[in-house]
Amino acid sequence: MSRTLGRLLVPGAAGVIGSNFVRHLTRTRSDVEITVLDKLTYAGNLANLAELEGRPGYRFVHGDICDRDLVDSLARGVDAIVNFAAETHVDRSLMDPFAFIETDVRGTAVLCEAARNHGHEVFLLVSTDEVYGDVRSGRSRETDPFRPRSPYSASKAAAEHIAQAYAESFGLPLLVTRGSNNYGPNQYPEKLVPVLITNALDGMNLPLYNDGSAVRDYLFVEDHCRAIDLVLREAPAGGVYNVGTGVETSGLAVAEAVLDIMGKPRSMIEFVADRPGHDYRYALDVSRITELGWEPQVTFAEGLEQTVRWYREHEDWWRPLKSGEYWEYYRRNYRPLVS
Ligand code: NAD
Ligand code: TYD
Repeated sequence: MSRTLGRLLVPGAAGVIGSNFVRHLTRTRSDVEITVLDKLTYAGNLANLAELEGRPGYRFVHGDICDRDLVDSLARGVDAIVNFAAETHVDRSLMDPFAFIETDVRGTAVLCEAARNHGHEVFLLVSTDEVYGDVRSGRSRETDPFRPRSPYSASKAAAEHIAQAYAESFGLPLLVTRGSNNYGPNQYPEKLVPVLITNALDGMNLPLYNDGSAVRDYLFVEDHCRAIDLVLREAPAGGVYNVGTGVETSGLAVAEAVLDIMGKPRSMIEFVADRPGHDYRYALDVSRITELGWEPQVTFAEGLEQTVRWYREHEDWWRPLKSGEYWEYYRRNYRPLVS
């Protein structure tokens, strides 16, 4: 199996993973035509797509995946949709669940409907390991039941259910990837890694929820993009794939590694009030994607060094983001830290 897929609609590609994905595509395939549809929420950033400007076959459309007419008209001219568009941050989902339900659930349904109406070759939904919920022992397999525990993960699980229903009921050729925690260039400074790095650069404390013991599988964003591309081209329709490194790292270990790379003292770590409903462990069985021919190329130590370097060299990218609305969110989220 090898799909060519010359024309792609990629919603949400102004965010961190989608922008790295379209850059990956343009580096590896000269012939691909890419239409990006993005609402440019606080997390979307046109600067992430700057190097695609003027490239033949590239088009950016500012709009919402919940807009049925717009999505339908864009879906008419493509072979496949690869959906990255979502509200993605757990802490924000605790403040405003409905934005997540609207975009992640209803938006996915709108995209599925368009893919169905236009007989696309494939519909790829970029999902998350968070659908499995808190996994205290063992590793989640693709066949495990969903046990989402936050409005974010519940919305992503619902999105998967909707897409699965379209596959079963209408024959939608569905592919799903369930990636673990991404980090790397262009990540909005609300997820753990860029919060730690940009705070350290600013001489601010590094906030860790509770005792920093919650573990995640940190996946370098370019490795994730290679996996999504592989699934898109090679996986049989109906395929669901966990994507992760299999390595577990605590928040405390991430913070210590950031400080060590930057030559800053451990005393900058500050333990703060826990996230409500905090999932303490995600862990994936990645044998399926390994069998498909993928493995991560970047270790956490290498990826973190590269990421610290990127944020050091791109203050012009992240510094403007840390203003206005960002500090309102920050104060609300880290109340014990900032008065
Ligand atoms: P992000 O928050 O960086 O970017 C999301 C993008 O979607 C932004 O460009 C935003 O403007 C856009 N968007 C939001 N609502 C929209 C709407 N209604 N219509 C059109 N565009 C909209 O997200 P990310 O981290 O790049 O995540 C991309 C996808 O990967 C998401 O579906 C997420 O659930 C999934 N995922 C993320 C991670 C992670 O660690 N970040 C891990 C696994 C899976
Ligand atoms: P995050 O990057 O929000 O991703 P996830 O969606 O997997 O929760 O958080 C990763 C881990 O780091 C998670 O256990 C929560 C923790 N965390 C902190 O300790 N401090 C922080 O400021 C943030 C944002 C997260």
